[in-house]
Amino acid sequence: MGKIVAAAATSHIMMSSHGVEEQAKNVVEGFRRFGRYIQDARPDVIVCMSSEHMVNLHLDNMPAFCVGVGDKHMAYGDMDIPKVQVTGHRDFAQSFVQHAFDNEFDLATSEELLLDHGVMLPLLYANPGMKIPVVVLLTNIMTQPMPSMKRCVKLAQVLRETIETLRPENERVAVIGTGGLSHWLPPGTGGINEEWDRMLLDVISSGRVEELYDLSTEEIMEKGGNGGQEIRNWIMMASMVQGRQGRILYYEAPQSWATGMGSVVMEV
Ligand SMILES: [Fe+2]
Repeated sequence: MGKIVAAAATSHIMMSSHGVEEQAKNVVEGFRRFGRYIQDARPDVIVCMSSEHMVNLHLDNMPAFCVGVGDKHMAYGDMDIPKVQVTGHRDFAQSFVQHAFDNEFDLATSEELLLDHGVMLPLLYANPGMKIPVVVLLTNIMTQPMPSMKRCVKLAQVLRETIETLRPENERVAVIGTGGLSHWLPPGTGGINEEWDRMLLDVISSGRVEELYDLSTEEIMEKGGNGGQEIRNWIMMASMVQGRQGRILYYEAPQSWATGMGSVVMEV
């Protein structure tokens, strides 16, 4: 059986430091520390749980979840991120998809996933050189209906079971949940809810993630904004190591970025 050797969550944007130089510096340092945490765990595979941003999936066909199963993925190239190739892990991805089907999740799959900032920005720090194979799970947080938190957590447990019961002995897996803390899109339609963000960071890092399993889409919308729906990815990550404590690497609320920024790494 495999083993979860790292579990972490991070925001996934980077914007101009103009006027918010100190905060931007802390964000970059936070990304560096996040990256070092993943690299120090020496994973054989990285599972990145991010959000669909209408890059791969569109209004004509929007599944709740989609897994990249290809041998390789290409970076989409947004946010000035180089269009590099990222190695996939077909065997891992297929194991997960099959186990999900066996557990009443009919996941969408893609052979040609494009990796936007949601995956690539964290990977630039966690997987420099892109040598470690990556499996991507995208969740729909853009259109209604979105999968419930309970459904997301259930799928995360299927992923954990895949790692711990179906994967080869000693396979080392890093799990990353990515997405913004509170933000309202488009920018200018809301601010940053620092109190909400700090509550989420506190609950997740103190090993009490199960307190967030009842969060509804409506409550997240009210307190964290439409962009804040991405907190699903953080909660899915933490649910896979439920009960473990974590460390908050940083929190910043740069007003001109219009999003709460933060990162948490778990003790696994
Ligand atoms: Fe996002």
